[in-house]
Amino acid sequence: MSFLVKFSIVIFLFIGLIESKQIPKLFLNYEFNKDLDYSPNNSNKSIEISKLTGINNQIVNNLFEEAINSVLIEGSSNRFWNLFSDLLPKGLNFQDSNITRHTRQSNQNFINVSPLKVQALVQLTSQSSPEARAIDATSTIGLSVSANLAKKLQGKNFDFNPVDALAGLKASNEFCPFKTNVNCNPNDRFQTFDGSCNNLQQPWLGKTNTPYKRYHEPAYDDKLNSPRSSSVLGGELPNPRVISRIIMSDNSEFDQVVSHITAFFGQFLAHDITSVAVSTDNSGRIVDCPCNSGNPSCMSVIFPSNDNALRMSCMRFTRSSAAFSTFDCRLGHREQLNLLTSFIDGTQIYGPSASRSRELRSFQGGQLRSSPSVVNNRQNLPQAQDGSCRGTNEQVKCFAGGEGRVNENLALTGMHTLFLREHNRIATELSRINPRWDDERLFSEARKIVVGILQHIVYHEWLPLIVGWNTAAMFDLVPLNDQRYYNGYNPNINPSLSGEFASAAFRFGHTLIRSQIKKFDGNGRETSAPLSIFDIIFRPAEAYNPNNGGIDSLVLGLLNEAASKYDANVADALQNRLFEVRLGDGSVIAVDLAATNINRGRDHGIPSYNSIREKCGIKKATSFQDLTDTIRPEKVSLLANAYKHVDDIDLYPGGLSETPVNGGVVGPTFACIIANQFRDLKKGDRFYYENGPSPTAFSLDQLNEIKKASISKTVCNNFDINMIQPNGFMQPLSSLNNGKISCNWLPNMDLSKWREQL
Ligand code: HEM
Repeated sequence: MSFLVKFSIVIFLFIGLIESKQIPKLFLNYEFNKDLDYSPNNSNKSIEISKLTGINNQIVNNLFEEAINSVLIEGSSNRFWNLFSDLLPKGLNFQDSNITRHTRQSNQNFINVSPLKVQALVQLTSQSSPEARAIDATSTIGLSVSANLAKKLQGKNFDFNPVDALAGLKASNEFCPFKTNVNCNPNDRFQTFDGSCNNLQQPWLGKTNTPYKRYHEPAYDDKLNSPRSSSVLGGELPNPRVISRIIMSDNSEFDQVVSHITAFFGQFLAHDITSVAVSTDNSGRIVDCPCNSGNPSCMSVIFPSNDNALRMSCMRFTRSSAAFSTFDCRLGHREQLNLLTSFIDGTQIYGPSASRSRELRSFQGGQLRSSPSVVNNRQNLPQAQDGSCRGTNEQVKCFAGGEGRVNENLALTGMHTLFLREHNRIATELSRINPRWDDERLFSEARKIVVGILQHIVYHEWLPLIVGWNTAAMFDLVPLNDQRYYNGYNPNINPSLSGEFASAAFRFGHTLIRSQIKKFDGNGRETSAPLSIFDIIFRPAEAYNPNNGGIDSLVLGLLNEAASKYDANVADALQNRLFEVRLGDGSVIAVDLAATNINRGRDHGIPSYNSIREKCGIKKATSFQDLTDTIRPEKVSLLANAYKHVDDIDLYPGGLSETPVNGGVVGPTFACIIANQFRDLKKGDRFYYENGPSPTAFSLDQLNEIKKASISKTVCNNFDINMIQPNGFMQPLSSLNNGKISCNWLPNMDLSKWREQL
């Protein structure tokens, strides 16, 4: 059967099963606001401020000098000057730096660990970098200068808030950590590892260690820096842990359509594009935040005394580090910093810097380093030297990948393993087709192909399922289905991630995780009892267990089982037992992921659910009752139990409570944020795989081959399996027109299209 026939069958089956998805919906169609944007640069008001008060950039500079001197006098100069004496005089060299994770060795059996080790567990997923520390140091001074000016202007009779005018004033180059002069070669066929030069006009856009953008004005209590804490009716906002217990407890049902791998592919994708820098102390470690710490970098959540699900009095929480919101260091609100490139460019596979990528390569035949798998001579990720996993010993070790969170759970590690194998498979094939290519060429071409495959799977298979085909089409997210290049690249689009996306909407995946994961062999049979998700968090042992299929059977299990339903509920292992440590006195230290997400939103000044809903084009609610247009009544009641006023609802629980959009997983507000973000990631990426013709593009023949890729075929190529469902992100059910077929029926990429004509 020709490729086209097979391809049409798959598309036909796929559309059929999307249409047959019978989930009750509140919406049939929705007209979202397609152009969410917020720009802090409000120079008209600033010109007015300068005229009215005489405040200008010279005065700002003097305030910076004063602030730095006061830091010096207070004796905590290390924080600033240590970083700057190293970094600033030479210019910040951000091209080649590593992200560091600051963890300590954890106890193997995990019982009776010391408080120091407790701290390490809570911080296992927190990351920072030397650049983030330098940026935090200057930006924190920028915030104090902003606060100082705002105080001076307070009480003056302006017809606008003085803080809104600060964005017209900026720190001079001396105090601005972004040195944006980079020489780019527009003809480089391969993108940089740190994302610089993707945009030739603004080479830092989307790069590692740059600020998030926003789709909506920030919601800090003081408009600058203080987390949102007050109800619109006065008094405090409800405690994040209380909200989590009321709205997000674990009593989830399973989704009727979506498979569990959809969630972990989502997490894998999240780790390609976002990792927020967390505050560090003078020694470069993530700030430790015991209960009631007075450290301004701490925002720990005090637990109510009647909270008996966990024997702990507070949840440690470190604020994300500060950043200027613009590259020219305008004054104004606290922004956060993304340690990763925002582009979908395989950072989690290849690392965020050239130096990290070198550590991951074997320098032979274009291969990535690997370690032997316990099953069938397949490859696993290379082992890591650090000991931040549990249950490790001489043989059982953490794995290493392009991204520090690779061991966070073993299903995620499985996603990394899948793409490592795909890279090495493609490099091997290319070396057969082009025997003259050296290691460098093989590695770079294989990386380019893998990133193309990744982007194709995201835009063709995964995203339309998450936001629904209507929304995907409305936002021009669906890849072209004929042999043409896409010509929508627009260098004026900012590809950076938005705070609303990274701090709330894209965390939707936390509700799709079920508490147990089944293990399946390649013949579709369960190999052993299911694993508890709790037992695979930072615990790689199962990957080394030859008896029931190692990590392979875990990945195959994800394809065979349903995801948990999108319904605001979070598995107990994530809500009450994440990173759990039992102390000698019987008390417990753990993280509530749902409460953390709510707290993180407040830390980042993320506006309320109701404001974002309105920004997205959905009617602003004036009462809880009004929410029933997007949220079922029983969920509205839960929100009304938790919050005093509809305007108080945090974006994360509000968005998660919504009923999914037609044919999608998420509700309308998250669909709007996610679609806006992926539109920016597509149109703002010069290396987007469908772009061309240009020296950086695939040939049309090659592009046609990339478009044959699918998650199912990638699994077929790299795991011992013969039969699989055509769309791996849906369950293998004939009632969904997605019953298993032979792997051979799925289109095969022909890599001979990469043969170099000599
Ligand atoms: C067992 C599964 C998972 C665990 C244990 C987990 C755990 C975590 C933790 C601890 C954080 C940091 C929270 C904070 O301090 O603010 C986080 C952040 C995040 N998670 Fe998950 N997660 C899981 C699955 C997922 C999935 C399935 C998705 C998406 C489909 C996802 C998307 C995100 C995003 C976007 C962030 C923010 C990352 C950043 O910008 O730094 N996670 N997760």
